[in-house]
Amino acid sequence: MLEMKHVEICVEEKKIIKDLSLTIQDGEIHAIMGPNGVGKSTLCKALMKSPGYTFTGGTCKLNGEDMTQLSTTDISRRKVFYISQNPPAIEGVTNAEMLRMALTVNGEKIDIFAFNKKCNEICARIHLPKSFVHRAINDGMSGGERKKNELFHMWMLNPSFLILDEIDSGLDVDALKTVASSIMDYYKEYHPSILIITHHTQLLDIIKPDFVHILHDGKIIKTGTAELATIIEKNGYEETIGTKKLSEEEKDEYNENR
Ligand SMILES: Nc1ncnc2c1ncn2[C@@H]1O[C@H](COP(=O)(O)OP(=O)(O)O)[C@@H](O)[C@H]1O
Ligand SMILES: [Mg+2]
Repeated sequence: MLEMKHVEICVEEKKIIKDLSLTIQDGEIHAIMGPNGVGKSTLCKALMKSPGYTFTGGTCKLNGEDMTQLSTTDISRRKVFYISQNPPAIEGVTNAEMLRMALTVNGEKIDIFAFNKKCNEICARIHLPKSFVHRAINDGMSGGERKKNELFHMWMLNPSFLILDEIDSGLDVDALKTVASSIMDYYKEYHPSILIITHHTQLLDIIKPDFVHILHDGKIIKTGTAELATIIEKNGYEETIGTKKLSEEEKDEYNENR
């Protein structure tokens, strides 16, 4: 479904992703791990066409279509859904307004009764007060509430590809369980492909990945099964990555980024 070959991504003319190849088939869950600052969020933002994050080399295809030529709206319309590490607030636009607009296809009016019913059902499911339906998107919400609010969007929009960037950051243990379990429920129901970024096996114990990749120096330097995440958590990145024998220069750079 998503096929990246020798991808290069630049931010502000700095090459952050240097040679990344990764294929995610329909229904597969892939986790990317790696020390802070290696470019995990950069990859997600480039995939979603965040301004300033540019593909400068390689190929990136979404269901066979050149993703580099698609806009953020095009990509969303193709049912790719992204939860960023820090979901932004959009003052003055409520969840309901945005969702109604997003769900309106070819100007056809949606069934407002069914829409309201679905909103309420989903809020109950993810332990979000009903009042959130009419709140401005993420505005005045805590870190945990923002993640749940994004999940509310996910359930409503019914995507088939999820990009989840450190959804566990800023969540307490209970909220983490609610968020991760809700994503897993969604997976069981709809089998989307998932690209998940995390540092913690806690999340991957619930959202079980088929593959775990380590990103370092702009490339995927190691790929394994879920067990690789456990090894990283136990031994740290340095020791795990160390199997590749980094140069002294690379080690310095790596340590600075920790
Ligand atoms: N908008 C930006 N402007 C300048 N530098 C950026 C920007 N976004 C990311 N970077 C840089 O790109 C590198 C990778 O950042 P990021 O993708 O956020 O790392 P990660 O998510 O792996 O922790 C860092 O050196 C960061 O400073
Ligand atoms: Mg990040």
